[in-house]
Amino acid sequence: MSLAMARRFESDTFDQSDSRLEFFDDHPAVADVRAEVLEGLGRAHKTLPPKLFYDARGSQLFDAITELPEYYPTRTEITILREHGDAMADLLGRGQVLIELGSGSSLKIQTLLAALQPRLYMPVDISREHLLASARALCERFPALAVHAVCADYSAPFRLPLGPDEGPLAAFFPGSSIGNFEPEEALALLRRVAERLGPGGRLLIGVDLRKSSERLEAAYNDAQGVTAAFNLNLLHRLNRELGANFVLDDFSHHAFFNAEHSRIEMHLVSRRDQEVRVAGERFRFRAGETIHTENSCKYGIEDFHALAARAGFVPERVWTDAEDLFSVHALRLD
Ligand code: AVI
Repeated sequence: MSLAMARRFESDTFDQSDSRLEFFDDHPAVADVRAEVLEGLGRAHKTLPPKLFYDARGSQLFDAITELPEYYPTRTEITILREHGDAMADLLGRGQVLIELGSGSSLKIQTLLAALQPRLYMPVDISREHLLASARALCERFPALAVHAVCADYSAPFRLPLGPDEGPLAAFFPGSSIGNFEPEEALALLRRVAERLGPGGRLLIGVDLRKSSERLEAAYNDAQGVTAAFNLNLLHRLNRELGANFVLDDFSHHAFFNAEHSRIEMHLVSRRDQEVRVAGERFRFRAGETIHTENSCKYGIEDFHALAARAGFVPERVWTDAEDLFSVHALRLD
């Protein structure tokens, strides 16, 4: 897969005269998605990678999740960012190249732009249409901002269209998306980020904190069923993109807190014995058997510092909310 360097996105939905906006496409190929899906469904305990949630519909459903009364992380993190933006900019630096991993709708960065005034904002996300729409909206709202949007899977090694002399780099990784990686995978990702940022680099990262299982389970089992629809949309995506024949009514959403691993687990439970075809291969499901679709790890502040330190990051400061639901960490590389 090659990165289309400095390729302007050419579409009539784009303002072609807007030189502040560039689009770089390193989206995973369908063949890669197929191989990953077949490997996951072939395991004794079936799994699917959570990055597959984020097709256009999944990204919309995720945005709806962030507004649910039960889903506290997004609004809590935004409150922390609003309250401490200036102090964060003091540590991150101003006028830098600012890379955001998993930028989604680029909503959170808007709370920091006035304080950080980045020379260049580089959102990285796997959901192409969503990324493009968000980048365009951001350029309209912030006329002085240069945006180079990168469509890539940051869960694997990925490249950024940056030269060697961009100066000290800063990264923003909000939303506790780091929690969607198991600790050893999270460590590998943090190490890759550290390598890319280099000495003097800064990372501002949002991490969801450990709390009562009742509060956590409510956040992933909302009353309106939006999280269930988000989970089930994965099967719809496999039907559309890999010619699978999942019947969505034959699976149900299940989310619970696994205290031993300090994580919410999301599964899709087969409601009956059945056989499903995916990309030309057959998979059997027993009634009650699950596909494990997501982990969302919850950390204590010290645990997270220990993990970050293993990747070479020095904790500079951490901010939390009044209820200690969520944390935002400023980390530095020496
Ligand atoms: C993106 N990520 C941090 C969310 C989370 O809370 O783990 C994804 C999510 N899954 C269900 N609800 C939200």
